[in-house]
Amino acid sequence: MKTIQVALLGFGTVGSGTFEVIMNRQREQFAHKVGADLVVKTVLVRHPAKYREQIPDQVQLTDDIDQILADEDIDIVVELIGGLEPAKTYILKALAAGKSVVSANKDLIAVAGREIYAAAAKAGKDFMFEAAAMGAIPIVHPLMEGLSANHIEEIVGIMNGTTNYILSKMAEEGWSYDQALAEATRLGYAEADPTADVEGLDAGRKVAILANLAFHCPAVFDDVYIEGITKVTAVDIAYAARFGYVIKLLGIANKQAEGVALRVYPALIDKRHPLASVNDSFNAAFVRGDAVDEAMFYGRGAGKLPTASAVVGDIIDISRNIVCGCEGRLGDSTYESCCFLPIDE
Ligand code: NAP
Ligand code: HSE
Repeated sequence: MKTIQVALLGFGTVGSGTFEVIMNRQREQFAHKVGADLVVKTVLVRHPAKYREQIPDQVQLTDDIDQILADEDIDIVVELIGGLEPAKTYILKALAAGKSVVSANKDLIAVAGREIYAAAAKAGKDFMFEAAAMGAIPIVHPLMEGLSANHIEEIVGIMNGTTNYILSKMAEEGWSYDQALAEATRLGYAEADPTADVEGLDAGRKVAILANLAFHCPAVFDDVYIEGITKVTAVDIAYAARFGYVIKLLGIANKQAEGVALRVYPALIDKRHPLASVNDSFNAAFVRGDAVDEAMFYGRGAGKLPTASAVVGDIIDISRNIVCGCEGRLGDSTYESCCFLPIDE
């Protein structure tokens, strides 16, 4: 039986969770699902000494990307270091070196997704990024595959776990903003710089990523109108509750007469609306299409194992493609028919 070999770039919250999920699955389980064995061969970090005790001796630990790029046995590179560089260079070099790539990197995909999709198509390899939008929730694959029969009209959702955790704890438990943010950081929900969460940038990146897939429009992060939650006070939350509303940070992408509007802002939601009861680090999104009518996606939007669930799902998906000899089967045709321009200012 073939052994699929994986290199993990990054061993923080998501990298260590991905390793844990892979190690906790029995060989037989992967063999059954994939038709191959799956092993983590190498882990790349900046400071290997910090990680030696967490990583078994049979797994190589390195700070040298060239070692991974030159290793012909490595089939899949999993980028979990975050940020624009060196993540982008590592991904492009891995594709050029004949490896398929998984990434959870919203910052990068929201600005350079199309360049990476094109590089993957050129290399005949897969580039998958389910964890880059709404953590554990399968939404990238449904938009690309299960819902692809539809003309998508709208995506509306709670797309950031940290801010939903903060707003939920302030509303339900009377926590202060600072207390809730500190706990969201401790639990591994927040970005390395939580400004990206609380200022709405992280949700904006997810809106841009999902809009590319849903509308085939060339949206990038700068096309999204963004307001975060830093101006929402306990008094705002209390007044909203008195009038039967909750405050949620919404990400919205919808078709309008002139094009596709992309925005993120804190909104009043009627307590009877399903999104009003999405609390803690959970995310949810409604997708409306001309054939499906409405589909709702719900689950953990952040955190170690929930995010690893999406990352390992992509690894398994690519492994199946490797086993059946159909890597790169999606090509980049999914992204070619650009037809709308974002309009909101
Ligand atoms: P993290 O905890 O900060 O971990 C980052 C890891 O990457 C560390 O092991 C770090 O190693 C390594 N690293 C950073 N820069 C590096 C470089 N230049 N070369 C080699 N290794 C480097 O980050 P995280 O929360 O796991 O997030 C990883 C990615 O997943 C990000 O793109 C994030 O946006 C995304 N994501 C996170 C979540 C979540 O819930 N946390 C959910 C969905 C997606 P050193 O310690 O040696 O520097
Ligand atoms: N910081 C992000 C969040 C991680 O809180 O949603 C998942 O994308």
